[in-house]
Amino acid sequence: LGNVVCTVGPKLVRYASSTREAGSFSRKVAVLGASGGIGQPLSLLLKLSPLISDLSLYDIQHTKGVGADLSHIETRAKVKAYVGQEQLGDALKGMELVIIPAGVPRKPGMTRDDLFNTNATIVADLISSCAKNCPRALIAIIANPVNSTVPIACEIMKHHGVFDEKKVVGVTTLDVVRSATFVAEAKGLDPTRVFVPVIGGHAGNSIIPLLSQVSPPVSFSKQELESLTKRIQNAGTEVVEAKAGTGSATLSMAHAGARFAFSVLEALSGKEGVVECGYISSQETEFRYFATPLLFGRNGVERSHGIGKLSEYETKLIGDAKSELTSNIKKGEEFAKAYL
Ligand code: NAI
Repeated sequence: LGNVVCTVGPKLVRYASSTREAGSFSRKVAVLGASGGIGQPLSLLLKLSPLISDLSLYDIQHTKGVGADLSHIETRAKVKAYVGQEQLGDALKGMELVIIPAGVPRKPGMTRDDLFNTNATIVADLISSCAKNCPRALIAIIANPVNSTVPIACEIMKHHGVFDEKKVVGVTTLDVVRSATFVAEAKGLDPTRVFVPVIGGHAGNSIIPLLSQVSPPVSFSKQELESLTKRIQNAGTEVVEAKAGTGSATLSMAHAGARFAFSVLEALSGKEGVVECGYISSQETEFRYFATPLLFGRNGVERSHGIGKLSEYETKLIGDAKSELTSNIKKGEEFAKAYL
């Protein structure tokens, strides 16, 4: 994972880099759920990027305003706004990357799984349209519960005969972002230079930060390991509680989503050695879906970097995650069967 550190730092300043250096980049990106708490700042960050030529904003409400607003920014991405189910197909045609932050967020006291009933159908409907209108696009799923929405998306793509396991990814970048921040705080490091692989899933104890594989190498006492792990696993809830019923992480998620998108777009355009963690259909472990660091290339996920050598503590964390992750995956697969 040596090359990871090289790709992590510069991302933070890439939003504002010169349009002239963009050269041959001309990628088409859609945001589904673009008017939401995540969708708006995410669309703003994407609009600032020279990597993108076309930005397609879709939501069931308010996209015309968001689109008009963003379209006045003096960057090259052409913004088009689509609103309502009947415009979804047009929003997706020709897209190479589709990012999905559509769906309801948590309120205090809720788990991500509590969102299942509403968000499963939203994601299933959106993916069905992706299968018909942009079957070769890389699909990045932010909508929770990611542990279940990714299996739903994969099953729907399979049903339409267009599933490519390199191209459906659950976005777990926020767990990686938080881990780097918290580890840097604890150890007095520059957070932009810290990389913590996070494996497993994206809910509660299925979020497994590999603190034995931090780059640059750092060591932790048993107490530090336990408290950092717990904080990383509960970081989403920390924000949900602080927002007191008005939503979950939106700004940090917008950053994490944009970081993931820029990495993917660079890899699609030929940059080598691009690694981000993501939750995908996987044969890595006993779980049918699992997050690991992934190497991205011109066709999406080239290969997984695997889980590496785990500490005893991390092996135990995987054991602790087993029942939740397995049941989240099954729930998604069963929903898809009933939906199709
Ligand atoms: P929000 O409620 O502010 O925005 C959601 C947007 O989705 C709204 O604009 C809504 O109109 C739109 N929407 C609803 N149904 C739709 C449909 N059928 N088609 C298109 N758009 C539709 O919620 P927020 O805060 O933006 O969160 C969105 C999702 O992201 C939630 O499920 C949340 O749990 C998840 N999330 C995921 C994270 C991750 O790390 N993967 C981190 C934080 C949130």
